Amino acid sequence: MENGNVKREGFSSGMAVFFATLGSAVGLGNIWKFPYLTGKYGGGAFLLIYLLCIVFVGLPVMVSEFYIGRSTGKNAIGAFTRLKGPKSRWKYIGSAGILSTYLIMFFYSCVAGWVYSYAFKAVLGSFTGITAKTAESKFTGAIIGPLPPIIWQIVVMAVVSAILIAGVKKGIERITRILMPVLFVLIIVCDIRALTLPGAFEGLKFLFHMDFSQLTGVAILTALGLAFFKLSLGMGAMITYGSYFTKDNNMIGTSIRVALSDTLVSLLAGLAIFPAVFSFDMEPGAGPGLLFMTIPLVFSQIPFGSVLLVAFFVLTSIAATCAMISLVEVPVAYFTEEKGIPRTKSVVLNAAIIVAMGSLAALSADGKSILGGIRIFGKTFFDLFDFTSSNILLPLAGLLIAVFTGFFVKKDDVRTELTNQGKIKTGAIIDVYYFIIRYLTPALLLIVFLYYTGLTKILFNL
Ligand code: TRP
Repeated sequence: MENGNVKREGFSSGMAVFFATLGSAVGLGNIWKFPYLTGKYGGGAFLLIYLLCIVFVGLPVMVSEFYIGRSTGKNAIGAFTRLKGPKSRWKYIGSAGILSTYLIMFFYSCVAGWVYSYAFKAVLGSFTGITAKTAESKFTGAIIGPLPPIIWQIVVMAVVSAILIAGVKKGIERITRILMPVLFVLIIVCDIRALTLPGAFEGLKFLFHMDFSQLTGVAILTALGLAFFKLSLGMGAMITYGSYFTKDNNMIGTSIRVALSDTLVSLLAGLAIFPAVFSFDMEPGAGPGLLFMTIPLVFSQIPFGSVLLVAFFVLTSIAATCAMISLVEVPVAYFTEEKGIPRTKSVVLNAAIIVAMGSLAALSADGKSILGGIRIFGKTFFDLFDFTSSNILLPLAGLLIAVFTGFFVKKDDVRTELTNQGKIKTGAIIDVYYFIIRYLTPALLLIVFLYYTGLTKILFNL
């Protein structure tokens, strides 16, 4: 169905574009995944590889997604059919994107639910006097369920749906513009407290110390997957948001600003968490529970801790909510534009799917959960959703997007769109971008894939 005549909403200014996109990038990835993965894979060396992945893979793919989105003004699948015709196989990048969006949303909504429940408990003051033992039992109590995690997941979806139903301008734009600055302030407050704890220096050392011994193939693939996950790439979220960008937006500039600010938030989250972890002699490689056990424990023992605890989980709830809206917007835009389903109905339908399937994640997050014993390819539902999307589908779609923009659209078209019809003087930047997206990004992605699957051993005897 051709929907060229449907009036489309969009963001109203460059500022709105920046905050909305940053709202998508900043999320549980910064505050939950980044610290626990950096902790698990040994600190600084992992951080270094992650930064390289952001610069040479994340940034160029982000620019490409913006190009695909804004030049077509379409959703994740419609954008490819607009560029290449309805029969083109390239649209399957969009389909794969929507599939990974769902996989991510299933576990993301679950973790967001834990965060909401922690924010709520922090407000009620239920972490006072907590010890290492009770911190752990509180966490497992909150996630095993069966009912509380699902109820909180429903609360998350209700909030996200309300924002999305309000629309692109009145919902996404307005909310991210208010909440992103609030998040920055709150995280800085938490940092100041954490960095003034005795022993905080050990935490800093951990974050910036280079220990290459733990940089295995899995660690490198994980850093790559994290870069995609962090910048919301490889599944059409940035194509969809790009389609709402103003025509005068400098998209390369926006990509750089968003990537920088997002990395800053990750570092600020690390600076709030690791000093606290070390100052209380806890385990930095504690895994997914790091945030949920360490932070309440540490903050409940320091002056002003209970206020900070509220601040910390409120800021994490903000991050999770703004990222979640960008995830749900992907299928919502697809359903409304390609299938003609009205926006509100589309939002409610998607929320229902997410709650239904997401409960599989919610009920398998811990070994003691009802579905926690079920293994598919050796993984629980929760881990399966996370691993398949972040570590396989996102980088794979990223590779295809790089090849697509590098070889299958005219360089002049890309240049025209990125320079806003020649209005922005970008100098050599476009050529640099073009070189990276054509050769460097695909090569890096391929090497990491081959390395990970063990094919390099067979092919090159490495
Ligand atoms: N970037 C978000 C985070 O770090 C998660 C996210 C939102 C995402 N939209 C996405 C990840 C699209 C991959 C694709 O938490």
